[in-house]
Amino acid sequence: MLEAYTERWALVTGASSGIGAEFARVLAGNGMHLVLTARRESLLEELADELRTQHMVQTEIVPMDLCEPAAVPELLGRIADRNIELELLVNNAGFGFVGEIEGTDVDSMLKMVSLNVSALTELTYRVLPDMLAREHGAIINVASVVSFQPVAYMPVYAATKAFVLHFSEALWAEARDRGVTVMGLCPGTTETEFFDVAGVPGWLKKQRSQTARQVVKEAIDALEKRRPYVVTGLWNYLRSLGPRLATRKTVVTQTMKFFRTRSFSATEDED
Ligand SMILES: NC(=O)c1ccc[n+]([C@@H]2O[C@H](COP(=O)([O-])OP(=O)(O)OC[C@H]3O[C@@H](n4cnc5c(N)ncnc54)[C@H](OP(=O)(O)O)[C@@H]3O)[C@@H](O)[C@H]2O)c1
Repeated sequence: MLEAYTERWALVTGASSGIGAEFARVLAGNGMHLVLTARRESLLEELADELRTQHMVQTEIVPMDLCEPAAVPELLGRIADRNIELELLVNNAGFGFVGEIEGTDVDSMLKMVSLNVSALTELTYRVLPDMLAREHGAIINVASVVSFQPVAYMPVYAATKAFVLHFSEALWAEARDRGVTVMGLCPGTTETEFFDVAGVPGWLKKQRSQTARQVVKEAIDALEKRRPYVVTGLWNYLRSLGPRLATRKTVVTQTMKFFRTRSFSATEDED
């Protein structure tokens, strides 16, 4: 578990917007120093300034593309150079894509696997041994409410998030008696840039959603209770139970209604 927040360091990936930026704000509010990484340097700089001014914490920014093969060793090398010991890692950077088979760019899907799965796995395994040696520390891996089922029109993204949840739960079991918590965080639809990036702008407005702040607060509460995973929001939790009650065929067929791409253009036209 976390030894303390104050004067300890957290690394947040995908900190330039959405849930990652909100993690940075809430953790800084608890007195944590922050290493912030993402590709958009100017947004990281703005956030770092805000955190230093409002919360008097130290910040380091490391702008980089985590899909690059040498990114994780470079990121951790920069952290080691500054003699920073990580108390908390938030593996948050990720992106999705909603679309039909013919409209799917294979290279982009491989990048998605590289970011959502490979970079997250590498960071986790490179950071965890030091935490285990110190017998304290925590890792939050951002999965999703789609981690519990396959999702039509979003097959790669949902599969990457199933990996993140299973991976995190298994490590939670391994690490729990050694003073370290690994937790999978499963938000549902959240008000961020995610759906613009995923290729369905406007879709979010029609959905029941949470703010990034709500997601982060529930995540921190669950981490303090040393949970293996948390689904944020009651509605999302109830949705996550659905796959346990129906056949796999029914579950995946139901997702067709949710992410039917042809209806997105109609949805946008209505706005
Ligand atoms: N919003 C939702 O409804 C929702 C629901 C469930 C789970 N999630 C998960 O929550 C996490 C955060 O997403 P979000 O909703 O906050 O969306 P977001 O606002 O789009 O944030 C995504 C973050 O990932 C970073 N990122 C993307 N590609 C990157 C790369 N190649 N290298 C380094 N950083 C990269 C982005 O920064 P740059 O563009 O500056 O690199 C950004 O900071 C993701 O893992 C997502 O799958 C989101």
